[in-house]
Amino acid sequence: MTATAAVDLSVQVGALRLRNPILAASGTFGYGLEFSHLVDLNRLGGLVVKGLSKEPIAGAPAPRLCETASGMLNAVGLQNVGVRAFVAEKLPALRQFDTVVIANVFGYTMDEYVEVLRVLEDAEGLAGYELNISCPNVKKGGMQFGSDPVLVGEVVGAARKAAVKRPLWVKLSPLVTDIGAIARAAEEAGADALTVANTYPAMAVDYRTKRSRLGNPTGGLSGPAIKPITLRLVWEVSMACTLPILGLGGIETAEDVLDYLLVGATAVQVGTASFADPKASERIRVELERVFLEANVCNCNEIRCKFKAENG
Ligand SMILES: Cc1cc2nc3c(=O)[nH]c(=O)nc-3n(C[C@H](O)[C@H](O)[C@H](O)COP(=O)(O)O)c2cc1C
Repeated sequence: MTATAAVDLSVQVGALRLRNPILAASGTFGYGLEFSHLVDLNRLGGLVVKGLSKEPIAGAPAPRLCETASGMLNAVGLQNVGVRAFVAEKLPALRQFDTVVIANVFGYTMDEYVEVLRVLEDAEGLAGYELNISCPNVKKGGMQFGSDPVLVGEVVGAARKAAVKRPLWVKLSPLVTDIGAIARAAEEAGADALTVANTYPAMAVDYRTKRSRLGNPTGGLSGPAIKPITLRLVWEVSMACTLPILGLGGIETAEDVLDYLLVGATAVQVGTASFADPKASERIRVELERVFLEANVCNCNEIRCKFKAENG
């Protein structure tokens, strides 16, 4: 038996078995295909595709990205090909790979979420859905779906009814006062897992030009700058509900993954790190395997149990 055979990186997220706990995060890995010449997609824990809407969206004006201290700001404007083009053009190519593909779904009304899910339900080659609830609800004056437990219950409940074939993950907004209440609302409405969390609304300006450094006035902050804040959110969600959690925010190394597992995540997603290093998810998996071996840890569960025992 080889040394690496002693380490089992596989994890169970609800009904879904992942070969390792590291997925590529939505919006930072295209539709997966763009990375297939650089990364062995068959060795990923999974990949979450760019957010899909009912109709194609052209997105925000350039510049869409800018670097900030220990992080990155983006205002992509949820550009995507639309759910039908995804099913017709991207999914057939993705089916060649033996990887877990999760479709990230968003809408500006409840009906839009449901319609996107209905199209995906008839498609082959998906392992599950991830509902992005950080979007403004145009029927409620632009209030984010994810900011209010009642709205969260409604949108997740409607999505659950539309999505009967596959697991439904709900990706929480970090812009809330009580993330535990939001997590419980999603759990009660039928979510199978929670992704914690999305980017943080933020801003960067240039005093020389007197303008925003993005095409939009504001954007979403990601990368190492957000890790300690999101880590706290994952911890609070793990205390508030029993659903499996996918932690993400600023993960760049195996140590970052371990931190998220310690505070209650079952698996993680890697986002911004893929911009600097497209092979980040693969590199981190190799590192994680090595750390487990050195620390004599056999699996991810062992890490979580040790922390719970120490910290209640
Ligand atoms: C350029 C960019 C585009 C993103 N697009 C989406 C998206 O379409 N849907 C979504 O749920 N999250 C999207 N996100 C959020 C990421 O999936 C992730 O939640 C966030 O960046 C925090 O993780 P990180 O610090 O590892 O990047 C996007 C992030 C970036 C940087």
